[in-house]
Amino acid sequence: MNPLLGRLQPYPFERLRQLHAGVTPSPDHSPISLGIGEPRHATPELIKQAIISALGSLAVYPSTGGEPALRQSMAAWVERRYQVALDPQQHILPVNGSREALFALAQTVIDNSRPATVVVPNPFYQIYEGAALLAGAELYYAPSEPALNFGVDWARVPESVWAKTQLLFVCTPGNPAGAVMGLKEWRLLFELSDRFGFVIASDECYSEIYFRDEAPLGGLQAAWQLGRTDFRRLVTLTSLSKRSNVPGLRSGFAAGDADILKKFLLYRTYHGGAMSPVVQAASRAAWDDEAHVQLNRQLYRDKFAQVTPMLQGVMDVKLPDAGFYLWAAVPAAFEGSDTEFSRQLLAQYNVVVLPGCYLGRSAPALNVRLCNPGSGRVRMALVADVEECMQAAQRIVQFIQSKL
Ligand SMILES: Cc1ncc(COP(=O)(O)O)c(C=O)c1O
Repeated sequence: MNPLLGRLQPYPFERLRQLHAGVTPSPDHSPISLGIGEPRHATPELIKQAIISALGSLAVYPSTGGEPALRQSMAAWVERRYQVALDPQQHILPVNGSREALFALAQTVIDNSRPATVVVPNPFYQIYEGAALLAGAELYYAPSEPALNFGVDWARVPESVWAKTQLLFVCTPGNPAGAVMGLKEWRLLFELSDRFGFVIASDECYSEIYFRDEAPLGGLQAAWQLGRTDFRRLVTLTSLSKRSNVPGLRSGFAAGDADILKKFLLYRTYHGGAMSPVVQAASRAAWDDEAHVQLNRQLYRDKFAQVTPMLQGVMDVKLPDAGFYLWAAVPAAFEGSDTEFSRQLLAQYNVVVLPGCYLGRSAPALNVRLCNPGSGRVRMALVADVEECMQAAQRIVQFIQSKL
């Protein structure tokens, strides 16, 4: 067996299951889960219709590069959304959701015949770590800072780390805290990438769910604005899962550096990364339509506008820039234990929240800072309908007040 498999950590939801194994959820309350970040708003009819209309296309093998018309739809969306002109033949590749693409991209770019480090924010989406480990790389966990709106202070990553870095994962808007990277941060990262030669993989799957007037800056957009029109060493990953409420469709795209995407296409051809023709048709319909996205965003905005102030009465939590999570500090009564908070909340109010420590890492080999920056916080996914989220918030308020 591949010995690197032994280095994979249990996935956060598995750890949550174990944490809750001995807990009897309160029988007086209906179960509400804010634990898993899975979109639950309705899938738009136009996507379902496109699937039905495309069923006849199943009798062919799709090409790994995707239909030209699909790439064209994706490029047109990038142009409308980011004012960036891409060549659909060179700068875009369809992928079966950003998860597999994040993983496969690491296998494509990492050269493990020499020392390889992958830098990730901490806390982070766990696939980055597994992708790096299975590619034979070491991890460097760069802590997100509450004082920086949970962004990372990249200037604090030692040069000795950058010197071995082959790949940097960024997540903007971030999971779990929803922070959006600005142009200044991008400029610094591009400078570092030019100096040290690493690839930047920008995970942007939450880009369409935002709470400020201005839509989040994307990596392609930042590169374009800084005159990097060849997107050198940059690949962004964008997904329909959250934008269009189709996590089951498995559809997104990678965009950016043409040389990397050429190699990525080669890797995917052997790996078997072609997208089903039915999914391609549904994806075109989704990328071509913006009305359902605006409606979806409004649903999240209304929900967050109601739930956040309720929780702010009892917890240190704020409206994120974007995404669908609240990243809240555990109140002092729990002595900073996010796991204890999660266990007791389930036992007393039948509400599931994810302990922040499961999304972060402590004591990584290379890092100066030893504590887990996810500890002492919980992640709440506001994916259910507004009534259920409000009910969960009311129970959390009661729960915390009962401890005061
Ligand atoms: C930060 C982040 N990236 C990527 C993904 C994967 O999304 P998908 O594979 O559905 O595009 C998720 C899913 O929850 C996520 O939270």
